[in-house]
Amino acid sequence: MNYEIESIDKTFLSKGDVLVKIEYSSLNYKDMLGLQYKGGVIKDYPMIPGIDFVGTVESSVDKKFGKGDPVLVTGYDVGMTHTGGFSEYAQVPSNWLIPVPKGLSNKESMIYGTAGFTAALSIFELQKSGMSVDQQPEILVSGATGGVGSIAIQILNKIGYKNITALVRKNRQIKVAENLGAKQAIIMEDDNKPIKKEVFDYYLDTVGGDITMFGLKRLSYHGSATVCGNVAGNKLNANILPFILRGIKLIGIDSVYVDYKTRESIWKKLSEEWNIGGSLLYNEINFKEFDEIIRQLLNGEHIGRTILKI
Ligand SMILES: NC(=O)c1ccc[n+]([C@@H]2O[C@H](COP(=O)([O-])OP(=O)(O)OC[C@H]3O[C@@H](n4cnc5c(N)ncnc54)[C@H](OP(=O)(O)O)[C@@H]3O)[C@@H](O)[C@H]2O)c1
Repeated sequence: MNYEIESIDKTFLSKGDVLVKIEYSSLNYKDMLGLQYKGGVIKDYPMIPGIDFVGTVESSVDKKFGKGDPVLVTGYDVGMTHTGGFSEYAQVPSNWLIPVPKGLSNKESMIYGTAGFTAALSIFELQKSGMSVDQQPEILVSGATGGVGSIAIQILNKIGYKNITALVRKNRQIKVAENLGAKQAIIMEDDNKPIKKEVFDYYLDTVGGDITMFGLKRLSYHGSATVCGNVAGNKLNANILPFILRGIKLIGIDSVYVDYKTRESIWKKLSEEWNIGGSLLYNEINFKEFDEIIRQLLNGEHIGRTILKI
């Protein structure tokens, strides 16, 4: 392992006008990458990893926040170049912090964490692009048993979408995906044809690589896809035909620097009409079990969400 757990002074924390006492951080694929040698996430060493956290304000220079306020942060430079969530304290600029919305407990907000926020942002973008419950469109979700994919399926299901197909890669994941709310789960089988029969209206892709193209070439006329992840690689083995013959759209999702207004409205949705907090399957761990979860994320054995109690 390339990391250690140790006691350090608060002066090590990156600068910010709000000091937060952290309660939970969540474990994401990107956190696992951050803990690998040359993982491409952490740019400055030594660094406290952890790309998101929730906690309470300990002190704030900005009058917008007062001691004891529940706050959360996902993205920005947290856990990359700015000391992050796997710590008792963090210090961040006040304009990175979202007040935990009423309707969500601090813990629930981290069960969503970066993965849940990204799933919701992907759905938000697909709806902006025309996806609507009234039409009961066919929706494909890849990486369906992972953090982002599993939450996406559950939110889609909760808000009334009935025709969700989960794309998985192991037989044992089929039942898991169906239990999450997919009407069916399929394992990818493809050939080299540049375009295939129209099957799906919308595609929420969390995997990247060849998996992205699998869905793009099966999108129906004017269909849309979002892509947020690269677990299957950075290369998009794409061709132009689905774009120019069917007018499809491919939308990139970035949860890290998305604007504050969008963040607030996504968290509001997650606390109200899209709230699946109570039914999310999660695993709560402490630092003793940390290595094992990182190993599972590295080896593709991790299912759903894990939160770290600080
Ligand atoms: N753009 C953004 O702002 C943003 C935000 C959050 C996350 N992400 C990215 O989104 C991706 C998913 O994150 P996550 O937290 O959901 O990760 P995760 O919990 O590790 O889940 C990854 C999922 O992808 C599947 N998968 C992995 N490699 C695959 C392959 N070669 N072919 C098919 N399926 C494969 C996994 O299936 P198995 O269980 O079979 O391995 C699992 O279902 C990551 O790349 C992450 O960095 C991006």
